[in-house]
Amino acid sequence: MQVFVMWERAISIDQLQGDQIVESLLTESESELFGIMTGAFRAQLLAVALKRDLFTYLANKSFKLEQLSEHLQIPKAPCKIFLESLVAIKLLKKSGDTYGNSSMASTYLVKGRPEYQGANVKLFESLYDACKELENSLAEDKPTTTNFAYFFDDGDDISSNYANLMHESGVVPTLLLMEYYDFSNSKWLLDVGGGSGRLAATLTSQYSGLGVVLFDLSQICAQAQDYLTPFPTLNSRIEIYPGNFLLDAFPEGPDTILMMRIVHDWSDDTARLLLRKAFTALPPGGRLLIFETMRASDDVPDDTFAISLLMQLISPAGHSTRLFS
Ligand SMILES: C[S@@+](CC[C@H](N)C(=O)[O-])C[C@H]1O[C@@H](n2cnc3c(N)ncnc32)[C@H](O)[C@@H]1O
Repeated sequence: MQVFVMWERAISIDQLQGDQIVESLLTESESELFGIMTGAFRAQLLAVALKRDLFTYLANKSFKLEQLSEHLQIPKAPCKIFLESLVAIKLLKKSGDTYGNSSMASTYLVKGRPEYQGANVKLFESLYDACKELENSLAEDKPTTTNFAYFFDDGDDISSNYANLMHESGVVPTLLLMEYYDFSNSKWLLDVGGGSGRLAATLTSQYSGLGVVLFDLSQICAQAQDYLTPFPTLNSRIEIYPGNFLLDAFPEGPDTILMMRIVHDWSDDTARLLLRKAFTALPPGGRLLIFETMRASDDVPDDTFAISLLMQLISPAGHSTRLFS
């Protein structure tokens, strides 16, 4: 018998008949509150499963508890709790006595799939530590002291975590940008802080008359080169331009300049500097596109709260997100 009992409407086990299964005695708002309270569990279950390579292991096959316990190197009893918890939060599905990926896990959590979100999961896992300082960060209006250097400078593999994160989280904005803006009248686009090259590849594949100059730090440009190498037909219309947008002038020539997810986490002074550089580099009639996540309305809070909190926790110029998010 499963009994899920909470607060004053709790019923005694004696009142339940035999094998009666009670899914939930919670009202919708109690259930929502419980979901918020246990949010840290959910995030950590996901982070641990990803670290132990569970979803990629399950990419093509379901396994029984014994096999997963061996693969995950977690003893059988806690492994059962772990797997059943993942089923409960819909990251796994159970069929008979085998566990497999849910469709959500299969799309977003299997390494190598185009929409893999591993670096994003890692970012939020690191924010879990930063959240211990959330109260202070809010009260004193300053970022936390959590060290994010590992994320931005990954030892030998410099900046790869960050570049992966940008690459993964760029899927949706890249698709949205093309819905918002028609690039048919642009010949050369300068993508300031263009990251991995996902946008450059997507735009050049959609607009045959468009060339893209990808301007980013040299180590990120090297990664963009690796990403773009398998697309030789697009490569001829993509120029990679390593540089520092704070110190160097923008390359001249493009008729359109894009700053996608660039301006929001810099101070107002730096934002002005970037806009001035864009103005100098553009020909008369040139276009500057600034693309950021914004609230639909100042008065209606929505899911962009996560980005505002992220900036508050980690960015010294986090206050500027209030203008944009
Ligand atoms: C938030 S990411 C956005 C990447 C990309 N535009 C996107 O939306 O996926 C910011 C980008 O700016 C680049 N960046 C940061 N500081 C830079 C600098 N001083 N000069 C050039 N690029 C810089 C980072 O390497 C990163 O690729």
